[in-house]
Amino acid sequence: MKNGKNGFSRIPQHVAIIMDGNGRWAKARGLERIEGHAEGARAVRHAVETASRVGIRYLTLYAFSVANWARPRAEVESLMRLLVEFAQKERAELRQNGIRVNVIGALDDLPTPTRHAVEDLIRYTAEGDRMTLTLALSYGGRQDIIEAARSLAVRARAGLVLPEEIDEDLFKRHMTTHALPQVDLLIRTGGETRVSDFLLFESAYAELLFLPIMWPEFRPETLLSAIELYGKKERRFGMISEQVRGLIPVEAFDPMDRIQG
Ligand code: FPP
Repeated sequence: MKNGKNGFSRIPQHVAIIMDGNGRWAKARGLERIEGHAEGARAVRHAVETASRVGIRYLTLYAFSVANWARPRAEVESLMRLLVEFAQKERAELRQNGIRVNVIGALDDLPTPTRHAVEDLIRYTAEGDRMTLTLALSYGGRQDIIEAARSLAVRARAGLVLPEEIDEDLFKRHMTTHALPQVDLLIRTGGETRVSDFLLFESAYAELLFLPIMWPEFRPETLLSAIELYGKKERRFGMISEQVRGLIPVEAFDPMDRIQG
């Protein structure tokens, strides 16, 4: 049913994408893997434009995982160069369209030219208030959780935080994803049905959509169909349908008031 904003019944606030399949796309065409990544960068452009046009507020792309450092050196270097190219070529249009760029992961791990290009892109687009485009770079979901735990442990040891003060909100503030809301829709292209260490904490209630197409084949219409499909899902967050629809109340959970029986 298309009726709400931009013709959709419901728009996910935060969409995250695992852009898989560049290598296979290239191989199937007798091309080098890096040509698949270059074509993938063009698909990034379409995804960003479409997401901001339909009113998605946060788009997070898995551009380079901590595990990707293990790839052949030439491929890693090409990916780092592609990021520089993307940052330089797209920055004017991103700013013009009100898109602010953000990074999660360990930006410091990147080679200096790539780090500088990305830092420049972040500064240049800092005023954007239409959509936040987050690039996950040298990112690992488990690593982000472990580093938040470590940082809180250090603060607890110094007496700056009490263990009983550590709740979901405080924990989140110590993650590199602190500025992002929880993921509503997680899309993976490339045909695999796994989340590969992406946004583990933030995707707790995300709708997962696995697509058989390779990332370079991702088109504006692919995102539009994904949003339409998302609009048809009922998200219950552990409750029952009648509660989500406001027909019966949501109970407050008080561990001291355990249900007997
Ligand atoms: C996974 O495909 C893709 C990556 C590891 C890199 C993603 C990078 C881009 C889409 C281009 C650059 C990014 C930006 C933001 C400009 P794969 O290589 O694992 O594909 P395969 O599974 O077919 O081998």
